[in-house]
Amino acid sequence: MTLAVLILAAGRGERLGHRLPKAFVTLGGQTLLERSLCALEAVDEVAVIQPVIGAHDFATYAGLGLAASEKRRDPVAGGAERQDSVAAGLAALPSTVEWVAVHDAARCLVTALDVGRVIEAAYREGAALLAAPARDTIKRVVDGHVVHTPNRSECWAAQTPQVFRRELLTEALEKARTEAFIGTDDAQLVERMGVPVAVVEGSARNIKITLPEDLLAAEGWIAEGDIA
Ligand code: CTP
Ligand code: MG
Repeated sequence: MTLAVLILAAGRGERLGHRLPKAFVTLGGQTLLERSLCALEAVDEVAVIQPVIGAHDFATYAGLGLAASEKRRDPVAGGAERQDSVAAGLAALPSTVEWVAVHDAARCLVTALDVGRVIEAAYREGAALLAAPARDTIKRVVDGHVVHTPNRSECWAAQTPQVFRRELLTEALEKARTEAFIGTDDAQLVERMGVPVAVVEGSARNIKITLPEDLLAAEGWIAEGDIA
């Protein structure tokens, strides 16, 4: 069973508002991209790592001077939407790859332990994602008014990695493309195929660095040595 990880780093990071694309922003002396690469490199089940970066970021990537790695391939260019970046990464993988984990470079605090757990669940069930139980009550809101309050115990915040059989993810992306559907994560595309996706509880600290305050929180956890 050969598993590849797509590291999605082709976003601009508009909400972070840094002059550099988000994946190249530094956190505790290392870029978000390097932190994510490092966590995934450490997982035995991961055989191939495919970075997906912005079309204009190849020089910046080369400038990182990453140490040689047997797992890591040369980066490929992503697309306008996250989903396009997933498709680009998937298309670049060697034909021997049977399983694909999709990971946001911006979720750079993920632990190798949690990555291993979600991969194991996917091997058992065909598809799995890391997620954290919702802390807040979630409201569905339309035009400024609540239309539904789902049972909080059934609400989870989706994280990455999300792991799928390669064929399944390829089919799900193709269906979304032909139907012009844009999802907010990869599992959603697979769910639309009527395929069950297993949920593995991940750490609440596996946050997606999105806003400047997320960087500050992450810096604090790293300084405290509080990231496993
Ligand atoms: N991503 C990508 N290709 C895109 C958009 C996003 O590879 N066209 C990646 C980002 O680099 C990030 C992950 O998907 O690692 C999650 O996306 P998000 O947190 O939204 O990052 P950005 O799109 O970069 O941020 P923003 O939405 O604030 O611009
Ligand atoms: Mg985005």
